[in-house]
Amino acid sequence: MARRTQKILIRRPTVADIPAIQDLIKDAAQFSKVLPRSLNNLYEHVRDFFVAECAGNVCGCCALQISGSDLAEIRSLVVRDDRRGRGIARRLMDACVRDAASVGVKKIFCLTEIPAFFERFGFKKINKAKLPQKIWTDCIHCVQFPDCCETALMRDVSAAAARHT
Ligand SMILES: CC(C)(COP(=O)(O)OP(=O)(O)OC[C@H]1O[C@@H](n2cnc3c(N)ncnc32)[C@H](O)[C@@H]1OP(=O)(O)O)[C@@H](O)C(=O)NCCC(=O)NCCS
Repeated sequence: MARRTQKILIRRPTVADIPAIQDLIKDAAQFSKVLPRSLNNLYEHVRDFFVAECAGNVCGCCALQISGSDLAEIRSLVVRDDRRGRGIARRLMDACVRDAASVGVKKIFCLTEIPAFFERFGFKKINKAKLPQKIWTDCIHCVQFPDCCETALMRDVSAAAARHT
């Protein structure tokens, strides 16, 4: 019961948080289709992330990676299994959507095995062929390419949309 009332802080990570972010992603990658990321890659992308902090520990993360003049990807969304079901992913997603709007990104996309989760946030399914940059940079290096079982989804990011997430 006490754990339920613990305050969750959504914030930008520092480089000191990167090993904890990597562990979070690594643990989730064993049971879900989250791509493991190297420490080096995470340090390079530290500014993409928001983290959730509980009792001084990182218990969630989500990244917004800009991938074009008006497009960005939601990546590495993970909430530690003992903290799920409390709205932490929603808060991380909201932070990324507001961030996207603040830098002028018009659309955000994701590739996922849980499209129903993203549909709750206004994402709509799209044909993967609409994401050529993603396919030809990341996907071709995946062992499952081209028989990928992930669904591509996209949503608009307007200032109004961001205010209402
Ligand atoms: C998916 C994940 C990030 C959700 O985290 P969470 O903190 O439990 O999610 P929230 O509590 O913020 O849930 C937000 C909403 O999504 C719903 N939801 C949560 N998990 C869902 C799922 N797997 N499928 C569909 N809807 C889901 C919740 O019911 C909630 O809906 P509501 O606001 O209408 O009540 C978490 O389960 C996780 O880390 N999974 C492993 C990694 C993963 O699969 N990441 C996504 C990769 S693309």
